[in-house]
Amino acid sequence: MTASARAVIDLDVTGHRINRHIYGHFAEHLGRCIYDGFWVGEDSPIPNERGIRLDIVDALRALDIPNLRWPGGCFADTYHWKDGIGPRESRPAIANTHWGDVVENNHFGTHEFMDLCDLLGTDAYVNGNLGSGTVQEMADWVEYLTRDDDSPMARLRRENGRDEPWKVPFWGLGNEAWGCGGNMSAGHYAAEARRYATFCRDHGGNTLTRIAAGANEGDLEWTRTLMKSVTECAGCTMGAEPVYQAISFHFYTHSGTGINTEDAAGFTTEQYYATLAYASEIERLIRGHVAVMDSYDPDGRIGLVCDEWGTWWNVEEGTNPGFLFQQNTVRDALVAGIHFDAFHRHARRISMANIAQTVNVLQAMVLTDGDRLVLTPTYHVFEMNKGHQDASQLSAHLLEAPAAPVAGAELPLLSMSASTKDAGALISLTHLAVDETLDVSIDLRGRGAHVRRARVLTGDAPDAFNAPGEDARVAPTPLETTLEGGVLRLQMPPHSFATIELDLS
Ligand code: AHR
Repeated sequence: MTASARAVIDLDVTGHRINRHIYGHFAEHLGRCIYDGFWVGEDSPIPNERGIRLDIVDALRALDIPNLRWPGGCFADTYHWKDGIGPRESRPAIANTHWGDVVENNHFGTHEFMDLCDLLGTDAYVNGNLGSGTVQEMADWVEYLTRDDDSPMARLRRENGRDEPWKVPFWGLGNEAWGCGGNMSAGHYAAEARRYATFCRDHGGNTLTRIAAGANEGDLEWTRTLMKSVTECAGCTMGAEPVYQAISFHFYTHSGTGINTEDAAGFTTEQYYATLAYASEIERLIRGHVAVMDSYDPDGRIGLVCDEWGTWWNVEEGTNPGFLFQQNTVRDALVAGIHFDAFHRHARRISMANIAQTVNVLQAMVLTDGDRLVLTPTYHVFEMNKGHQDASQLSAHLLEAPAAPVAGAELPLLSMSASTKDAGALISLTHLAVDETLDVSIDLRGRGAHVRRARVLTGDAPDAFNAPGEDARVAPTPLETTLEGGVLRLQMPPHSFATIELDLS
């Protein structure tokens, strides 16, 4: 069966810049994300540079990933950075009590992480330990990383082989302080965040964006408390700047039954739609946080950062339950498409987002199996969408689109966003219908356009995934389009994601 949808895009009506950091990533010391993921060690037969696995680096470089958050997550609030510097053989081991209760040998530490960022060509987002670390420890880490002179921490860094300071643009003040980061109340954490942020200095030419650990999903009271604390307190400013410059929130997608309750593949149609409806909640959540932030900060000086998002399914059979290794299907790709559209729409306030997590954990870009590497369906959404990074929003309106009843509400079956950059435009379409094709016509107004490239991502089933050693079942293919009289027409297969790249005149 075929349904139809109509939309209008005003190619000459631009809005806010879509911060490239919305396409950010997250690598935690969790399962096989770092060890047996990014980090294989210098002696591994798997091709690596200074211990960092090169096929992963190559795959991620193609995504132009703008930033990488590390070392957690929950792990961050147990991590003492001095355990991860100096000669590897003398670094102390610790227990990773959050994730699998395994022994962490600290072979991947500060220098290895910054080396990884260099190889990826990405900015570092270091998440400091506020839960179990001291203010001094956090202040020292910032100094170690970013100070150029003969200060004690800069000297220690040099003793460990790095002369130049690094640039670290993003700094996390703990993680999920309402839960694994210390089970704090909002008021208590707000005071702690101000205290820690005060001592995370800008050294030399490095300017930190300090990110306060924000709400669980739609907890607007948490956001309100942090906003009140940062904007209404006399004396909690650094010059003209707020003491922290961004507030985060986390939102994981499942089908409504809770994280870690259903399988990544082999789901029912009902579970499929329930998941996409749940993912679409991101729009409502962002609106809520933005409304609270606007009431304290109408000029939008404080950024909203969704530094953990993505699907959370049961672990794959036979894998360590603490390692969060899950399969990644077309459904996950559609979840990503829905999130990016929402992030693009709220580009005024959303300054960063980080998918959880990049390698072998949760909604990953790549999955590894020994020396083999698989690009997941979600990877392709990041690749197809990368032209939105630092582009300007375009005014895009859906005039007519099919919807499906899900849990007493209507779920629109088409999601869309568009942006423009460098005399070009990029349109993204996420089509959710499980078994119908969709005829889409888009009235392109305001400027001349021709299609440079159109691609579609789908699979032979909504739970299709790519497996190591097999031909990819889910990869982008060319999409047929026509563009006549300013009207772009195309047909989207069921459960598909598409991008149309335009040249504008
Ligand atoms: O991404 C996995 C975990 O989910 C993170 O460590 C934590 O912040 C969140 O609860």
